[in-house]
Amino acid sequence: MFSIASSKQKNEFSRNDLIKVRQPPPRLRWPLRLEYAPIPGFPEYGKLVSKLVFGASSKAVQLDHIAIVQTLSGTGALRVGGEFIKHFWPNKTIYIPTPTWPNHNGVFRNSDLTIKHYRYYDPQTIGLDADGMLEDLRGAEEGSVVLLHACAHNPTGVDPTREDWVRVARVCNERGLLVFFDAAYLGFASGDYDDDAFAIRYFVEEGITLLLAVSFAKNMGLYGERAGAFAVHCGTSVERVILILGSRDEKNRVLSQLKIITRAMISSPPIHAAHIVIEILSNEALRAEWFKETKVMADRIKTMRSPHNPFLPERCADL
Ligand SMILES: Cc1ncc(COP(=O)(O)O)c(C=O)c1O
Repeated sequence: MFSIASSKQKNEFSRNDLIKVRQPPPRLRWPLRLEYAPIPGFPEYGKLVSKLVFGASSKAVQLDHIAIVQTLSGTGALRVGGEFIKHFWPNKTIYIPTPTWPNHNGVFRNSDLTIKHYRYYDPQTIGLDADGMLEDLRGAEEGSVVLLHACAHNPTGVDPTREDWVRVARVCNERGLLVFFDAAYLGFASGDYDDDAFAIRYFVEEGITLLLAVSFAKNMGLYGERAGAFAVHCGTSVERVILILGSRDEKNRVLSQLKIITRAMISSPPIHAAHIVIEILSNEALRAEWFKETKVMADRIKTMRSPHNPFLPERCADL
């Protein structure tokens, strides 16, 4: 009836093949209770996710400068972030890259933010337009927000180098831009979670206040579980901002506002998603197994994107 072409592919890969998280319930250690989670999620969830993303040795984690809430995956985290900006950040303009994941537009539009763009991808070089990006960020309205893909930029797969990140951080500092990292693919760019978290950790080490949206949809294969987190690193470098001055006390105030925001949006986050993430991150063997599988996935992505992939031309023709 509908003339929509099927995109059935040869060599179709099943995500279920890799992620052993899907093994049946007997491996689950948690008691099967179905009560509500606390509004920001289980405290253990926030602690484990903070340690994972910012690094166990991160001073910001040790000094308790991270306000974090569990969200409905990455999209929910971006939406909570949009609402946080709308209520508490003086400048309501957000710069997103060209191109970007299309839903960034919808999420931030619905958060009543003004969306502007910065250059990112150069089709001539099939790489990063680093000069264009820096020029646009330098020209951004002072104090506006800039959305950065932490790694494995969607849809281009092109990421800044470490040197580029250092330059981006400098410009963001100079222009007083509030950085909002979207981390939907940590581990999928290089195959190493810590390597992929470089940009986030570098900005934090520099004392930069930042917002962070985390998703476990892709890298843990938890798509429909909707496991994610929104975090604010209460840094030390954005002194002109009233709300965020970089202290534990500041973190507590940010967290209490985040609770008010998420309470009104979802009341309380999904517990099954949280239990799975807690199970993996708190168990050394499972965490190691997960990291190994993430590497397999990253390698596979590289193979699929390789110009030598025999299926690539056929697939491109379908698009
Ligand atoms: C760049 C980016 N951010 C965020 C998301 C949100 O994903 P989810 O809500 O499934 O975690 C996606 C999903 O494709 C994405 O590509």
